[in-house]
Amino acid sequence: MTQRRRQASYAVLWAGAALLAGALGSAGLVAAHTGASGVVKERMDQMKDAGDATKALADMMRGKSAYDAAAVRRLADRIAGHGGDALTENFPEGSLDPPTEARPEIWENWSRFEDLAHRMEAYARALAKAADNPRAGDQAGSGMMGQGGGMMGGDAGPPPERLAKAPPEAAFRRLTQTCSACHKSFRVDK
Ligand code: HEC
Repeated sequence: MTQRRRQASYAVLWAGAALLAGALGSAGLVAAHTGASGVVKERMDQMKDAGDATKALADMMRGKSAYDAAAVRRLADRIAGHGGDALTENFPEGSLDPPTEARPEIWENWSRFEDLAHRMEAYARALAKAADNPRAGDQAGSGMMGQGGGMMGGDAGPPPERLAKAPPEAAFRRLTQTCSACHKSFRVDK
């Protein structure tokens, strides 16, 4: 049955399903912002919007909704707009008013936090550029995506310029890994 074949290939693609949960958060997309104000509310809204866009992209990558390159570009640009300086400027030192889930370690490891924020933007831009590239096939794609993972250690992945020329799945995977990496270090695990 074709269902079986699909499942097999997606199993390779979505060994990353747990990763996606890390990207979106266990509370999913219905996190409560009740009581949040100021910069905390702003960044929660910003993250929620990045989460909604990531979810829509994941549905397309997984074949749950039809792949639409123009929509991928739009969603990726939306995420990119929430990364980089737009992200870091919403984390002034010590901004830990409830109900924030941010951890104080952010300001002890600011350069890593900043690096992850810029990486999020760069990978989202790469995904926008990759939107029209051939999709990851059952073999070619998974090989590509596995590539470059641990070569440089730490958070370092393949350069965004290379991802821009690869199947869109590759940039998307790096993007969600970046969300998860930041959440793992800098967001309260509820
Ligand atoms: C540089 C670090 C960093 C990156 C990169 C990052 N996040 Fe976050 N994210 C956080 C922090 C910190 C919080 C908690 C913010 C707070 O509660 O004040 C958060 C919270 C969230 C939330 C919960 C928002 C809510 O409703 O309260 C979602 C959803 C989320 N992020 C999604 C994403 C997605 C999707 C990506 C990648 C496309 C991403 N984040 C990338 C640091 C990051």
